[in-house]
Amino acid sequence: MLKRADELNFFWAYNKEELSKDKHLVLLDNVQFIYELALAQLELQSLGVNFEITNGLREFKLLESKDEEELRRKLAYFKYVNGQPTDYFQIIQKNRTRSVNQYLTHWIYPYKGKFHPQMIRALLNIIGLEKGDTVLDPFIGSGTTAVEAQLLGINCIGIDVSPLCVLQSKVKTESIDVLPQIREWKEEIIKRIKPSLFNLEGKTIDDAINLIPDEEVKNFYRMAKLVAISDNARRGREFSNAFLKNLEVMISSISDYVDIIKELNLKLGRIHIKTGDSRALSLNNESIDGIVTSPPYSIALDYVSNDAHALKELGYDLTLIREKFVGVRGKGQARIDLYNDDMKNSLKEMFRILKPQKYAVIVIGNAIYMGHEIKTVEFIIDYANKIGFNLVKNIDKIIFGLYNVMQKENILIFQKRG
Ligand SMILES: C[S@@+](CC[C@H](N)C(=O)[O-])C[C@H]1O[C@@H](n2cnc3c(N)ncnc32)[C@H](O)[C@@H]1O
Repeated sequence: MLKRADELNFFWAYNKEELSKDKHLVLLDNVQFIYELALAQLELQSLGVNFEITNGLREFKLLESKDEEELRRKLAYFKYVNGQPTDYFQIIQKNRTRSVNQYLTHWIYPYKGKFHPQMIRALLNIIGLEKGDTVLDPFIGSGTTAVEAQLLGINCIGIDVSPLCVLQSKVKTESIDVLPQIREWKEEIIKRIKPSLFNLEGKTIDDAINLIPDEEVKNFYRMAKLVAISDNARRGREFSNAFLKNLEVMISSISDYVDIIKELNLKLGRIHIKTGDSRALSLNNESIDGIVTSPPYSIALDYVSNDAHALKELGYDLTLIREKFVGVRGKGQARIDLYNDDMKNSLKEMFRILKPQKYAVIVIGNAIYMGHEIKTVEFIIDYANKIGFNLVKNIDKIIFGLYNVMQKENILIFQKRG
């Protein structure tokens, strides 16, 4: 029987031994879909590589390339460059789950609608972002863009209206700076979990968390509590057991992250995560080098109901918070109209803050609502074009698990005119 993800405690088992000796670029084993092959080729083109596809599409011959070291450091879809493992191949070994794309801190909290991290790494390369550039994700969600930008040395501003998303994204990118302090507080926190045994003063876990002076350490333990609450709600696992188990895996994942930074000598990007509204960004005009984001898919997922237990636990009033969310207000046609207005304002803001000629990647799909397909993709393309973006690529991407609501999404790459 398959074990549950958080019960597994080993690195993702790729075979690192079979080094390819010839002059080829070898695709990673998990690359299976046409859109991934398309993105793999776009990555190579953006990095100035001249190539030829060989061996049943899984190997690429390097005809001409400026800098092989750069390829090895940056590429997302390849395992080897001329027999040498890529950084990404080594990064994904650091995985405490049984899902190939939930390596390092990506797995922390079961957020619905996460980006595929490998795709984000590729898109950051495709739109030409370099170390020290700044990417914005105005719907940062679970923080996928932030982690991938951080790994590539690209600075990232991540914004979300949901305090749960802000917390997740911060914990995934900031805990590496406070690992010793996280370890120091572990005993104190664990004491509060089983009150009858150790906690003679009757202090709760919240009392203990509130004593922690560092904000990053505090956030880590807040998140650990929410992961356990979610585990308890979704799987019926007893809270204290869920807390202890997940806490161990969270600490191991952060330790893996610290290790891989040293092993690969990574220079991390600076990450700034904040609560905000995509429709009114507090950022200067033409201050951002690229955007990679996925807005709510019209009415496909109600993010407020979905995360209700966690938002309540964080002390938020769901009715008030709903007012600011894109895609969850109104009923019937009114809901679609409100969504479209919100998306227009969000697109105008993306246009305003982006530097001329730079790229915005928007991943979005058409959802089925009340028996009809809502043409969000076409709407976004039309409006973006109207305000000054050119659509330079539109790649179909299959999705799983939401068949009754949507079957595919589109990766739209826009360039700002001017
Ligand atoms: C499709 S999810 C993004 C998922 C993300 N790409 C990831 O990898 O986890 C859309 C996000 O938009 C956020 N959101 C909704 N309305 C917003 C608003 N007005 N401003 C900023 N974020 C908003 C939701 O909280 C949700 O996290």
